[in-house]
Amino acid sequence: LRELRSACIEFAEGYATNPGQGSLLLLVGHNGVGKTHVARALVNWANAAASKLPMVACGERMKTADAWFYSWPESVDSMKSGGWDIVEDMSGHALTVLDDVGAEHDPSRVAVEKFCQVLSRRERRWTIVTTNVAPALWPTRFDQRIASRFLRHAQMIDLSQEKDFFA
Ligand SMILES: Nc1ncnc2c1ncn2[C@@H]1O[C@H](COP(=O)(O)OP(=O)(O)O)[C@@H](O)[C@H]1O
Ligand SMILES: [Mg+2]
Repeated sequence: LRELRSACIEFAEGYATNPGQGSLLLLVGHNGVGKTHVARALVNWANAAASKLPMVACGERMKTADAWFYSWPESVDSMKSGGWDIVEDMSGHALTVLDDVGAEHDPSRVAVEKFCQVLSRRERRWTIVTTNVAPALWPTRFDQRIASRFLRHAQMIDLSQEKDFFA
């Protein structure tokens, strides 16, 4: 957990210094280890601190750095009922959390496609992805593009050896 703590501090410091340009933090581990808790805490912190942080470019204008938490399975459900705008929304924030990627019901694999799209639009932006899908399963459960992006561009914190928070 020391590794998780220092990754969070590094992430928060980086975000506070330059909310407009950042990196991808990937939290991997089975249910109950605290991935969602940590991701939500970072979003809450970022929004509470927003007025003291540098502003970020939004087209021609500058805007206050905004952070947003998305449950990926719920977002996929809303896409399936026609809410494709959410893909655009996810791309726009200074900090975006995509929580529980891989937990969605996605037999048509449209979610994988949208996930890829969001990741490429968020290249070099502050992004946190949480998943309980083990790295060995990424190429099949997601696809090769996502697996290699995760491996090349993300800082991964592997919590798979951690116990359930309440255990
Ligand atoms: N550091 C923490 N402090 C307090 N509660 C925590 C902490 N980490 C996790 N929890 C609690 O433990 C439970 C499981 O955490 P959660 O973040 O949902 O796990 P995951 O997303 O990895 O499945 C939740 O009820 C959460 O509120
Ligand atoms: Mg969770």
